[in-house]
Amino acid sequence: MIFVTGGAGFIGSNFVLDWLEQSDEPVLNLDKLTYAGNLDNLTSLNNDQRHIFVKGDIGDFELVRRLLAEYKPRAILNFAAESHVDRSIHGPEDFIQTNVVGTFHLLEAVRAYWTVLEGDAKADFRFLHVSTDEVYGSLEKEAPPFNEHNRYEPNSPYSASKAASDHLVRAYHHTYGLPVLTTNCSNNYGPYHFPEKLIPLVIHNALNGKPLPIYGDGQQIRDWLFVKDHCTAIRRVLVEGELGETYNVGGWNEKPNIEVVNTICAILDELKPMADGRSYKNQITYVKDRPGHDRRYAIDATKLEKELGWKPAETFESGIRKTVQWYLDNASWVENITSGQYRQWVEKQYQ
Ligand code: NAD
Ligand code: TYD
Repeated sequence: MIFVTGGAGFIGSNFVLDWLEQSDEPVLNLDKLTYAGNLDNLTSLNNDQRHIFVKGDIGDFELVRRLLAEYKPRAILNFAAESHVDRSIHGPEDFIQTNVVGTFHLLEAVRAYWTVLEGDAKADFRFLHVSTDEVYGSLEKEAPPFNEHNRYEPNSPYSASKAASDHLVRAYHHTYGLPVLTTNCSNNYGPYHFPEKLIPLVIHNALNGKPLPIYGDGQQIRDWLFVKDHCTAIRRVLVEGELGETYNVGGWNEKPNIEVVNTICAILDELKPMADGRSYKNQITYVKDRPGHDRRYAIDATKLEKELGWKPAETFESGIRKTVQWYLDNASWVENITSGQYRQWVEKQYQ
């Protein structure tokens, strides 16, 4: 079986669902169920024997050690993290605890397990660490996209904590020989995306007649990848990736934020026109910029494409349409997570 951490979050749950669509190999899923973890993402796996869920912390060495001894996975895929830049600005400590200290304890438990494996079990074992393009910092407008040789220059507490975890993973390979792989992916979007991040927040606010907040001038650029394409990339790296290597993952879809928001509004105007015929674009509101806001991210995925033969299936245009449609079809999923705690966050961030 494989062992996934953070499999109740956005990308982790998409990965688990995608994995079990493609294969009968069971998944052990360890997730702390923070505000971002949501078992509603996995309801289609209720009563599915192939999915074993355990609520717990990647930083709990004893728990991870026990799970490894009991289930003997052939691979670990580490998705678990605190992932929202704005939250890392308000409160960085959780990011250090999970992304740095948690990853360290996880690595220690995995090292203890892997060290005593033998033969093929040892040779075939993999630790795949899921990371972000944000570790490379911000690009100038005309600079080439990030490749695997760019310097790490993280600018937010989130990206700094992810950078630290990447370094630990690298060091465990170099020092102890742990068979690791690291992926650094650009911004994801798609089903089950928590509506604190730009794309689901804008869809949710648009449908609820609320402002669509654009930080600063809205000209910041992100490189968007449909989440299912990220999942196929991770699977490819798991099978074919060279040990100790890192792979940048992205779909060559650089867009300024304002263009992304305009596109969402245009799709909503078409799929769910407002009664009075006005456009959702009227709800766009420019707000105070994020402190230290990175201006541009862009990924050069040539290595993954050339060496491992990966290509994304979706363009931004096809993926964003599917995403908007998914949110229209899954209003109750959104309703369930946008109560209580979520409202407090929105008040704090956009007051
Ligand atoms: P998310 O915030 O939606 O989900 C994170 C999951 O991890 C949640 O289910 C949460 O409960 C769980 N978790 C948090 N702390 C934990 C802990 N200490 N122990 C166990 N579980 C814990 O995040 P996401 O967007 O799904 O991102 C998943 C991974 O992919 C992260 O490592 C992130 O850095 C990386 N990544 C995300 C993006 C993106 O655009 N979202 C892009 C590139 C890389
Ligand atoms: P986000 O989804 O938080 O991802 P990240 O910061 O990890 O790239 O934000 C994507 C972009 O959208 C980023 O440039 C910040 C911007 N943004 C807004 O303009 N308004 C918002 O309300 C949010 C949440 C983000």
